[in-house]
Amino acid sequence: MKIAEIINPYVGETGGLITALQAVQAAQGFLPPETEAVAAEAFNLTKAEVKGVISFYADFHREPQGEIVVRLCAAEACQAAGGRDLAAAVEKKFALKSGETSASGDLTLEPVYCLGLCSAAPAALVGDKLVGRADAQRIEDAVARHAKERA
Ligand code: FES
Repeated sequence: MKIAEIINPYVGETGGLITALQAVQAAQGFLPPETEAVAAEAFNLTKAEVKGVISFYADFHREPQGEIVVRLCAAEACQAAGGRDLAAAVEKKFALKSGETSASGDLTLEPVYCLGLCSAAPAALVGDKLVGRADAQRIEDAVARHAKERA
């Protein structure tokens, strides 16, 4: 389905731009580069305005994501509980920097800002599974479980 065909039904709705972008991402897995121009024309906005919305929301992705996404909390409570060390250890374990997807496309690492699991900081989300009191081994185990479930 073309981007315009996905976006057009939301034109004129309250919050239509965000809903339209979510629909594009749900259909494509990410927001392809032409999304900005198509959405700008449909909603009578500038490309910069659409880009601003896309940039503001961390859940919008401009690149395809890996099959498994590991989100490490980078918000305050988790940072105070060793979140930076955890991120460094996980980056080392998977040989990926935060914000990157592996060349094989099987894994994406990205920061997230609070998972609502502050009392069990540092926290992570592996696929759709929360990991509290996370360490690099628990993250690796969760990735392995997730991969097995997907197989
Ligand atoms: S600050 Fe990390 S889960 Fe809330």
